[in-house]
Amino acid sequence: MSVKFIGESDGIKKFALENKNFVKAEIITYGARIFRLVLPVGDGIDIVAGFNTPGEFKGDNPYFNAVIGRCCNRIAKAGFALGGITYNLYANDGENHLHGGKEGFDRKIWDAQTVGNTLRLSLTSPDMQEGYPGTLKVTVDYELTDDNELKLTYRAVSDKDTVCNLTNHAYFNLDGDFESVLNHIVTINADFITTVDDELIPYGDLTKVDGTPYDFKQPKKIGKDISAETKMLTAAKGYDFNYVLNKAKDTPCATAYSQKSGVKMSVFTTEPCMQFYTGNFLDGIVGKKVYGYQSAFCMETQNFPNACNVPGFKSTILKKGEQYFSATTYKFDF
Ligand code: GLA
Repeated sequence: MSVKFIGESDGIKKFALENKNFVKAEIITYGARIFRLVLPVGDGIDIVAGFNTPGEFKGDNPYFNAVIGRCCNRIAKAGFALGGITYNLYANDGENHLHGGKEGFDRKIWDAQTVGNTLRLSLTSPDMQEGYPGTLKVTVDYELTDDNELKLTYRAVSDKDTVCNLTNHAYFNLDGDFESVLNHIVTINADFITTVDDELIPYGDLTKVDGTPYDFKQPKKIGKDISAETKMLTAAKGYDFNYVLNKAKDTPCATAYSQKSGVKMSVFTTEPCMQFYTGNFLDGIVGKKVYGYQSAFCMETQNFPNACNVPGFKSTILKKGEQYFSATTYKFDF
């Protein structure tokens, strides 16, 4: 395993993590994003979406492989109350707040240092940035092990009570060609999803997945039920739901498998939920490839979305001085 600084362009630094099996992850300091994730299959396949140069990530794009904060996913009506004060956030998804606001953590240049075999990215988000209270100091560690695991460890501490829910928005296509994800075979170890309204806002109810198109407890092709005309699948134009994970120690919360490349990805996390998103808003954006509708999928581990407005959900409040900790591993077999 090694971590190397491999260059800087447009004010963005690039690092390469490599292991003994010739797996290579390149990480950039803009948005703490995964730039490339190459597996030694055939001539080598890059299984994450994105652009050919770091600078291109600065334009508008759907959060390609970025760390999302201070609060990922949607916050209803772009606001929440904490300690008797109402905080107003930026509404960037209709009336709602999505993925940290106008300039979330995905649009910040992070500091970088190598700590042994780990790349540590750090960011200070000032008090009231994007409307969130408290100065939040965040670190995200990337590590690539010789067991072909890409490990992400998130830590944060705030000097005031705040809300915090971090994830990575990696877009995967395990075929490596970014044609379609519909033939990928997926499992998700979850009995429930958070029910959403037409604006994809979870408001407290859960939907049991048994016997519904949302059920991935047994291996299933993404495409099998994706066109079922349920209210939620129609509103989301595909899967874009938060799975409430069954507690499972040492077994993955989700897996995805490509018959084309033979690559299997297993996801492990400390978090209670995972947003499974099938790239329903991808509309032909041009990067390393042309990313069309449902050409990539995301498995965004996280705490409950909109929890700051739903008392029944596990809290995303981070108390002053307390440590936020979350860890997710993406393991690859090929
Ligand atoms: C998340 C959301 C989707 C969409 C994408 C970004 O995964 O759940 O609805 O907003 O981010 O395009």
